[in-house]
Amino acid sequence: METSNFFPSVEIPNEGCQKTLKNCNELLPTLPQSKAWWFDQLFQYQGFWIPSFGIRGSMLINDHFKPRPTDIIVATFPKCGTTWLRALVFSIINRNSFDFSDHPLHKANPQELVLFFEGYLHRYGSTSFVDGLPSPRLLSTHLPYSLFPTRMTDDTSVCRFVYICRDPKDVFVSKWHFANKLRPKELPPLSLEEAFDLFCKGVSEYGPFWDHVLGYWEASVESPKKVLFLKYEDVKKEPLGCVRKLAEFLGVPFTPEEENNETVAEIVKLCSFESLSNQNVNKSQTSSGERPIGNSDFFRKGEVGDWVNHLSPEMVEKLNQITEQKLQGTGFNFD
Ligand code: A3P
Repeated sequence: METSNFFPSVEIPNEGCQKTLKNCNELLPTLPQSKAWWFDQLFQYQGFWIPSFGIRGSMLINDHFKPRPTDIIVATFPKCGTTWLRALVFSIINRNSFDFSDHPLHKANPQELVLFFEGYLHRYGSTSFVDGLPSPRLLSTHLPYSLFPTRMTDDTSVCRFVYICRDPKDVFVSKWHFANKLRPKELPPLSLEEAFDLFCKGVSEYGPFWDHVLGYWEASVESPKKVLFLKYEDVKKEPLGCVRKLAEFLGVPFTPEEENNETVAEIVKLCSFESLSNQNVNKSQTSSGERPIGNSDFFRKGEVGDWVNHLSPEMVEKLNQITEQKLQGTGFNFD
């Protein structure tokens, strides 16, 4: 698989970042470990199962990242709609800079336009590249909310988070397909049963899924100006309303003129599964991101409820039970 020219040249991390990396290298072997669904080992770090690069990125954020008032963090549990949300946020924020008939989303995968926060910090071993980005910075993360420093989460004058969650049954099915596409050839395929057992135990990249969702849900209830919480199913059902909500939250509501000239509908169309998955750049196996994952791997069916084609009644019952138990008393549900 080719890799694109997507990363600027790597600099030597400064002394502070080198110290953080050293601390991380010392910490990793002391953490509980589990096998991952595809490439990496997972480490249990502050209650979540995270690949080593995510822990490195998180530690660099905690020690060195300087948030700005205009920062926008697109946060997701993997397979909940990261690609879609990246595209929507990018096109909302930059709607006056590009023509919809000749748009960057026609030529670049959304992960080239909204950079993978912890992936970049891990790659550079430093925050310097992200420090140098112009405002507003659009960054994407899979890190749980509790792993961000309080100077990012408690200070309402800096950075905003937009989060999208999805029915766990669809997340699991999407993740299982993705894992089997990406697993190295020398490993046997991951069976549905084995993956299901891991998912239920919370052992999956950035899992437990439910704790990840609840962290952002609770933050959105406590600080609705800091965290916008969306559901994949709602965006599918009411894309125009969700795009308006996103724009308002991001401080760039649509003007009456934009409403008249159908800007909202243009954004919805541009970012739809049909539109994005049919761009040549997204049909290719070329990787434009941090990991050796082809752009086409991020597009499968893009439907609500595909779990009915994969899960046994026992699996459905078990996942529903776990979900009910985890969400009890939280005020949140997936309906
Ligand atoms: P399925 O595997 O159920 O099809 P992520 O972007 O977080 O990795 O999530 C990938 C999931 O989102 C996949 O789900 C993928 O098909 C779906 N997806 C990607 N782009 C989408 C879009 N523009 N609209 C709706 N769903 C999309």
